[in-house]
Amino acid sequence: MSREAILARLRRNPDIYISGEVISRELGISRAAVSKAVNSLRKDGYEIAAVTNRGYRLISGPDRLSEGEVLPWLRTRQVGTHLLCFPVVDSTNSYLKREALSLPDGTVVITNQQTGGRGRLGRSFQSPPDRGVYLSALLRPNLPPERALNLTAFVAVAVCEAIERTTGLAPQIKWTNDIVLGGRKVCGILTEMSIEGESGALQHIITGIGINANQRAEEFPEELRDIAGSLYMVSGQEVQRGRLAAELINALDQMYAAWLSNGGDYLERYRSRCLTVGKQVRLLRGNGRVEEATALAVDESFALVVEHPDGRRESITSGEVSVRGLWGYL
Ligand code: BTN
Repeated sequence: MSREAILARLRRNPDIYISGEVISRELGISRAAVSKAVNSLRKDGYEIAAVTNRGYRLISGPDRLSEGEVLPWLRTRQVGTHLLCFPVVDSTNSYLKREALSLPDGTVVITNQQTGGRGRLGRSFQSPPDRGVYLSALLRPNLPPERALNLTAFVAVAVCEAIERTTGLAPQIKWTNDIVLGGRKVCGILTEMSIEGESGALQHIITGIGINANQRAEEFPEELRDIAGSLYMVSGQEVQRGRLAAELINALDQMYAAWLSNGGDYLERYRSRCLTVGKQVRLLRGNGRVEEATALAVDESFALVVEHPDGRRESITSGEVSVRGLWGYL
């Protein structure tokens, strides 16, 4: 951990030398431990200059998702104050589900790779190493379960804003929570709720976010190539994933506070990014039936208001809605 704390300290001040003595005092470790940690970082590809009587300075480093890469950018009060970073895990949502009882409200798990990434509707989520940001947050709001239904829409806004802050790109939302750039899905969100059987009380919510950050087009499996994209494919620039993960946590933290107090203008922000409204849509019903309709609006509770060909209006709250012009629906 002191290794990651040293990395965070050097990342925070890339333009100045920090003496080994200052670091050892700040972290309460010996000078020898500082030097050992610096060498271990160097072995991992970090270029760290060391100058006698001046100290250490970070020159460059690999794109890693570790505490040391995320902490320098964090400004949070609740979400992310307990942060766990793993090189690989089956699924960050599954991890939190297993450990939920022993972890505090706002715990965030980040990983560099998922071996069993999960998507909505029982699908899998491709989570290759070194390319994406896979992150889940554990929330324990003291609220009735029905209040939690709109959380995933709030999360979609937070994700878009974090991507925008980090890259300058302006993502849109395909209702309810697919994040789209350049006509392709660059991020998926899976929000899962646990309810106590007897009382019906909300135990916790886990919201999981998978962002395709630095994938090249040819790295997606053939069947996803027209649908999935990455931030790199749109901007032509590699994203620093630690920074992106931190901005995501910052945005989730603000969102959580606003959501708990019923505050903020998330509905307006959601509407302004929602690409579904005004488009022809296909509704995939639970029984497998497919219906065509026109999307008219997102209502106060984030439901999608559609108009059927016979003029009948309906508020859709769940299920698959495809948008004409996107992903094979022509
Ligand atoms: C979807 O679009 O179907 C939702 C995809 C959600 C993927 C994220 S990656 C982090 C978290 N862990 C998971 O296993 N899934 C979510």
